[in-house]
Amino acid sequence: MSENLKLPGIDLSKAEKYEMLLPQLEALIAPETDLIANISNLMAALKSAMNWLWVGVYFVKEENNWLVLGPFQGPVACTRIGFGRGVCGHAWQNKSIIIVDDVNQFPGHIACSNLSKSEIVLPGFYKNEVAFVLDIDSEEYAAFDKTDELYLSKVVRLIEEKFVQQ
Ligand code: SME
Repeated sequence: MSENLKLPGIDLSKAEKYEMLLPQLEALIAPETDLIANISNLMAALKSAMNWLWVGVYFVKEENNWLVLGPFQGPVACTRIGFGRGVCGHAWQNKSIIIVDDVNQFPGHIACSNLSKSEIVLPGFYKNEVAFVLDIDSEEYAAFDKTDELYLSKVVRLIEEKFVQQ
């Protein structure tokens, strides 16, 4: 399936890239029910299509005490993040999307890679509680904006539709 992925050209705008990618992401996971398989392919597709350092998911686990690393693409990452810790833990605690233009300016930012300069984290919900976060890092400052927020929210909705408790 992944060999059929049509990658957006570098000449396209960010919104055009997402518009091209989203139907393909939907098609990629449509026939499969396994959550890990689906998220793994989504992360691989996003990493192939966008010029990001790291893209992955952390699951809320162990009686809601930890975010634990799930499928991702990019450099090795920290496996556990506490409630309210780092950008991911803040998105979990506040149940809201966080965009960080310069990770060095975010108090408590957890540096899994010192190549990361900016970050976006979006919480995903199951039964009205945060069940996972989608975390993306860029090697460029201020790489993420409202366009990413809009389209990555759609990616999070795709995962929520397939979500089963891990
Ligand atoms: N920077 C994140 C930690 C996860 S890595 O970026 C993959 C944070 O501060 O929560």
